[in-house]
Amino acid sequence: MDGVDAALVEIGTNRLTTFASATTHYPPALRARLLDAIAPAARLTLHDWATLHIEVGEQFAAAAIALLDTAQIPADAVTAVGSHGQTLRHHPQPPHPYSVQIGDAATIAARTGRPTVADFRSIDLAYGGQGAPLVPPFHAWCFQDPVTPRVLLNLGGIANVSLLAPGSTAALAGFDTGPGNCLMDDWTRHARGEPFDRDGDWAASGSVDPALLGDMLGDAYFGAAIPKSTGREYFNLEFIRRHLDGRPSLRSQDVQATLCALTVESIAIALDESEPAASLIVCGGGVHNRRLMTLLGERLPTRRVVSSEAFGVDPDYVEAAAFAWLAERRMSGLPVMLTTSREPRPLHLGAVYLPRP
Ligand SMILES: Nc1ncnc2c1ncn2[C@@H]1O[C@H](COP(=O)(O)OP(=O)(O)OP(=O)(O)O)[C@@H](O)[C@H]1O
Ligand SMILES: [Mg+2]
Repeated sequence: MDGVDAALVEIGTNRLTTFASATTHYPPALRARLLDAIAPAARLTLHDWATLHIEVGEQFAAAAIALLDTAQIPADAVTAVGSHGQTLRHHPQPPHPYSVQIGDAATIAARTGRPTVADFRSIDLAYGGQGAPLVPPFHAWCFQDPVTPRVLLNLGGIANVSLLAPGSTAALAGFDTGPGNCLMDDWTRHARGEPFDRDGDWAASGSVDPALLGDMLGDAYFGAAIPKSTGREYFNLEFIRRHLDGRPSLRSQDVQATLCALTVESIAIALDESEPAASLIVCGGGVHNRRLMTLLGERLPTRRVVSSEAFGVDPDYVEAAAFAWLAERRMSGLPVMLTTSREPRPLHLGAVYLPRP
């Protein structure tokens, strides 16, 4: 939701090469409309939704084209564009599970002149899966170690983990642990008018309120069995406000400290039940939150908590690379091993939009 992450990568037999990567921030007015659109009480008209869909598609196409310009690589050298889309809502619950991503893939294909793979989630939901997270197969392909188990942790808006068994190119499990940056971002925006808490300094200036933390940890999502997935329609300002009810005297920096602790604690609890892996490899924008990373390290003393940078992959572009990898699988007609349902299973993900001949 902060912007468009794009990566130009080559997928080798078992190796990723990145030629260029860049984040293009959404124009502020567009970002404000996206934030409005994801509000639980949003009343978008069909026209509002469709217009956003095309505008975001134009942003994605521009990001892809800018990357090719930077790298001085001609578009026809590119097999495909993989576009995850901007999530507006994720609702895997029966009886009508859905996950809405916008950013028109036809626009991307037309502007870039390259095949564009999009809509990665719906087929998994149609088969009763969570539709998220889809990155564990890529994490396994990219980060598995022949001898030691590893865990990948993506600190995006929502946090998700992939448990990787040694020597296996399929993840053992992958699920959303709950909030990544989203609650801290929402509270910072609400209380300070800033998009995020730089380096976690504001959280570090407050003290954790144990009662509030305990209350929030009592939320049903944290105790739910895996596989599971969630979104910002669940962990948002409303969630915070609900728990602050009857606690008017809490200082806002203490709330922030508590939200940071909630993020850490919910991840740690989710990992407590897993194999004690040697390394916890972290990616996503949350790696830049120094406070969050320090607390994670302290809470998980037996694990080596490191940025994916230490493994040669820029933490800000792991997700972008993952969708390039998924697009490559789709273009090659290969399924991916998903961990979004009770039994891991292979599925072909994504729909291909072809440019004109
Ligand atoms: N220097 C920093 N200090 C603290 N937090 C940071 C810093 N830099 C980035 N972040 C956090 O990273 C977030 C962006 O991360 P990322 O792009 O991985 O997630 P997203 O786009 O919000 O969500 P998702 O990937 O789930 O769609 C910011 O909103 C902010 O919370
Ligand atoms: Mg982002």
